[in-house]
Amino acid sequence: MCGIIGYTGSNCVKDILLDALSLLEYRGYDSAGIAVNEEEKKKTEIFKCAGRVSDLKAICDTKQITATCGIGHTRWATHGGVNDGNAHPHQQGKVTLVHNGIIENYRELIADYDLQDVLRSETDSEVVAALLNHFYQGNPGEAIRKTVSKLKGTFAFVILFEDQPGVIYSIRNVSPIVATICKEGAMLASDLTALCRFTNEYFVVPEYHILELHKDCILLTDLQGQKVEPQMLSVDWELNSAGKNGYPFYMEKEMMEQPDAIRRTIEGRIMNGLPDFTGDGVPDELFTNCERICVVACGTAMHAGLVAQALVKSMVHVPMEVELASEFMYSDPVIDEKTLVIAVSQSGETIDTLEALRYAKRQGAKCLSIINVKGSSIARESDYVLYTSAGPEIAVASTKAYTTQLSVFHLVVAKMAMLRGAYTEKQAKAFVQELQRVPEVLETILEQRKDIHVIAKKILEAKDLFMIGRGLDYSILLEGSLKLKEVSYIHSEAYASGELKHGPIALITRNTPVVAAVTQEKIMSKELSNIKEVKSRGADIVLFIKKALAGDLHQEYQLIELPDMQDVFMVFPTSVALQLLAYYVSSDKGFDVDKPRNLAKVVTVE
Ligand code: G6P
Repeated sequence: MCGIIGYTGSNCVKDILLDALSLLEYRGYDSAGIAVNEEEKKKTEIFKCAGRVSDLKAICDTKQITATCGIGHTRWATHGGVNDGNAHPHQQGKVTLVHNGIIENYRELIADYDLQDVLRSETDSEVVAALLNHFYQGNPGEAIRKTVSKLKGTFAFVILFEDQPGVIYSIRNVSPIVATICKEGAMLASDLTALCRFTNEYFVVPEYHILELHKDCILLTDLQGQKVEPQMLSVDWELNSAGKNGYPFYMEKEMMEQPDAIRRTIEGRIMNGLPDFTGDGVPDELFTNCERICVVACGTAMHAGLVAQALVKSMVHVPMEVELASEFMYSDPVIDEKTLVIAVSQSGETIDTLEALRYAKRQGAKCLSIINVKGSSIARESDYVLYTSAGPEIAVASTKAYTTQLSVFHLVVAKMAMLRGAYTEKQAKAFVQELQRVPEVLETILEQRKDIHVIAKKILEAKDLFMIGRGLDYSILLEGSLKLKEVSYIHSEAYASGELKHGPIALITRNTPVVAAVTQEKIMSKELSNIKEVKSRGADIVLFIKKALAGDLHQEYQLIELPDMQDVFMVFPTSVALQLLAYYVSSDKGFDVDKPRNLAKVVTVE
């Protein structure tokens, strides 16, 4: 979280920084700021404010800024409230910096270096600016080395020294920084979104290496001062796929992109009608040698793991757990070399997931990850990676990343089932064939979006809402409910229908909105009984139901009929329908759908 950008070159820096911050705003949007290095004035000027990048832009537009070197930041508050003073950049003496991460020992540093009187903000970041300034005697590398040796925590710092005009310094631990050099100059950012409008070539700054950006070159050295050659990577994202393409919100655009995103993700992984990961370098033994599977992930990615768990249990019969990455390593999990750990993450940077992966590797587990962002930290540290090809996902609420994760899991499950003898080749082929239908089925549900908009309008005023379902429907509703609460601020909970009578049913009163999912034929009659139980208590029910199961239920309930697929694939149309519901509630309520309050897309603090 927190977006970072730095640029030095021949162009005016102001617009480059502000444009990049707008693209990075999904990483945090509590406040924004830039610092520019006015070479002629020999001074670093700061412009910052609480609020959005658009507020910062309004301030900058009133100033004459001609500098060609500068740094910028968009904040997700951790230490210190949301106000102008706590906004980055922070300046102490000759040092100006922006920071992403958390310095855990900032209190000790204040005491040890007697910094209390010089600090003007409540942030841990300003303490580091003061410490750098304390160590700075004209040699930036030395000051950086001395400073980081005192720090505990995670960080990506981007630093300007007032008497080093035109040069940007950076160092990181865990929190990401990518950098590049192109015809406009040298630049770095917390993620690629901000760079890919300039170039497709970039490198990931290694941890504890000092990066220097000069106008015409980049210098990377380790902490011993040895020069290190950056390992260049390339990204195939196009600029227009990082824009809104005419949609009012990224979330809508990204929902609409799902059919193509899934097509891209599965094509190339199907050979002769069977799942094939040869192109990814994933050997079959990874799936045959393991005795158990453990998914580690957070938020929506964790919900994708829950769907996979239901599939693996029923189709492959291998024990599988899904762990919240933030809880994982503190619960002494049973992980050994016979465990296949699957880390799932859109960004590949979620620190809880990264730390869980590192823990699993230390225990000897083999680690496979399912990641959207190429070259991200989790991808780099995993033994094997299966990339989703969702393209840049900007809206905080994840949509296309989730459904592409589901599509990869479906391929993995089919592969495992076949390799472990639970499926014949014929069964696996039939399964893959149905998966290939998913994109066109999603096109149908997306065309049907007006019907879902009608339902959304009915729940705009709801304070509480419940979602109920069984089996795979329950797993999907957990995600549907998260989506609704994060973008609409309606209190929404998903329950396994059979559990209702053990407590939650006490919350059902007259007109309480209840969304029920009915897509699994074998448990349909039980599910309908549970739905009756809440109807008897006055709930206002909408059924999201597989078309083939709808019968005459429209006489009794309001229905959204979902296009038919085999039951284990109904997760796709159901989740897209639930995404649309959340989206329309949020946009009809006039919220900033892409930037829900208090959230950030990439969570790089524990
Ligand atoms: C944040 C985002 C969620 C996301 C979660 C995990 O909380 O707001 O949308 O699901 O992080 O992110 P990851 O990048 O690891 O999938």
